[in-house]
Amino acid sequence: MTRISISTDVDAGTISRHIYGHFAEHLGRCIYDGLFVGQSSPIPNTRGIRNDVVEALKHIHIPNLRWPGGCFADEYHWMDGIGPPDKRPTMLNTYWGRVVEDNAFGTHEFMDLCEQLGTDAYICGNVGSGTVREMQQWVEYLTAEAGPMADLRAKNGHSKPWRVPFWGVGNENWACGGDMRPEYYADLYRHYISYVRNFGDNHLCRIACGPYGDDLHWTETLIRQAGKKFHAMGMHFYCGSGRQKQLAVDGNEDDWYFLLHNAKRMDDLLKAQIAVMDQHDSIGRITMIVDEWGTWHEVEADTHPKFLYQQNTIRDAIAASVTLDIFNHHCRRVSGANIAQTVNVLQAMVLTEGDRMLLTPTYHVFEMYVPHHDAICLPCHVTTNTLGEGDTEVPAISASASRAENGSVYVTITNLNASNTESVSIALHGLDASSLQARVLSGDALNSHNTFDQPNTVRPVAFDGAVLTRNGLDVEMPPRSVVAIAVPA
Ligand code: AHR
Repeated sequence: MTRISISTDVDAGTISRHIYGHFAEHLGRCIYDGLFVGQSSPIPNTRGIRNDVVEALKHIHIPNLRWPGGCFADEYHWMDGIGPPDKRPTMLNTYWGRVVEDNAFGTHEFMDLCEQLGTDAYICGNVGSGTVREMQQWVEYLTAEAGPMADLRAKNGHSKPWRVPFWGVGNENWACGGDMRPEYYADLYRHYISYVRNFGDNHLCRIACGPYGDDLHWTETLIRQAGKKFHAMGMHFYCGSGRQKQLAVDGNEDDWYFLLHNAKRMDDLLKAQIAVMDQHDSIGRITMIVDEWGTWHEVEADTHPKFLYQQNTIRDAIAASVTLDIFNHHCRRVSGANIAQTVNVLQAMVLTEGDRMLLTPTYHVFEMYVPHHDAICLPCHVTTNTLGEGDTEVPAISASASRAENGSVYVTITNLNASNTESVSIALHGLDASSLQARVLSGDALNSHNTFDQPNTVRPVAFDGAVLTRNGLDVEMPPRSVVAIAVPA
């Protein structure tokens, strides 16, 4: 029996909606085919952007979208992607399959996508192969009210400046973004950011390229040398696949627990990174944005190895929910995150095939967690048994709880058990619960997933396994499941 104790009248910080951010790179079929099909496509679109995908993504209230990469960001020259599409130069996307990028999707199309989604733009500028002037002018082009870049923007059809809340200075500059040492990147960051200015009402959240996973030297050096000059630091961590890299739909129970154990590592990694941040920034001015995370499986058969197209099963959904729980619990330092990537790449929300589209199990987790956006995080103490051992050890149950402005409480619970039901008893301190609404997401098998022919195999349904008790709730968690419970005040 797992016991969860939730204090409903205590404030453990605000869960920024930006923790539920997304990422779209010029990689494989994420942008082209996935989000953008062009105006002449028979697939219903608005100015080239797929209507079905926008509609689906609106339901999960995407708070911000990171673009244009990823590794692509440090090869991207934004001026190639403005002006009449048929006059835009082409380039080779050397990192992702050496395919020709025709720049049909550029700055105006991205900002249009953000507007259609109702989401904030998070743009990652080019440090690896770009110039300071290029980055300076891009910020000006996007956000300045007047001047040569604003004139050029108006000439290209958008007279008003856009709002751009998030600005990243390079991506993985310790690897694909220039293979730099932290000492060198920290100096470059200071150089670049000196010319990244605010215009009018637009106030950029300046984001430095942070570490991968457990690289504390990068974090320490960067904060010490340049910490005064950024608001947030990115961090990347992918929890991988099964014990061996395998198709998303493959794997036995050992692989199941191996992957979830790695997903749970995010907690220790964040604790270690935050300890370094605390040493240099005890007041918590600088935040962490985990701007790439997720599972990374073998690519599907007959797909380009560099296009990173993978299926998505209930195992991915559980990896997502336990990771989101970790971010929620660290919400005082973690102000944002971006799962990789939105459509057709890695742990996607949506997969497309021609004019067909399906919602993945991971999409449904993001939908079930929407009530946590900008809600007050409630301390949630979980006493549970462990499953597996060593590199497969995981707690049986993970959970998050939050309080909305109207006082209602929202609890999400994950059962990591691959094969058994887990009984959970929740004490809700400070709330006299008189009703509840519950939904469950689970799968009949370890690899339950949705296909274009059977798109609704894994989706949330009403749940009658949660009942009110004298001081809270009792929940019978099916194997491999995520349960979301709303308790009105
Ligand atoms: O998301 C795929 C790639 O993973 C990104 O381009 C890069 O930043 C990371 O290594």
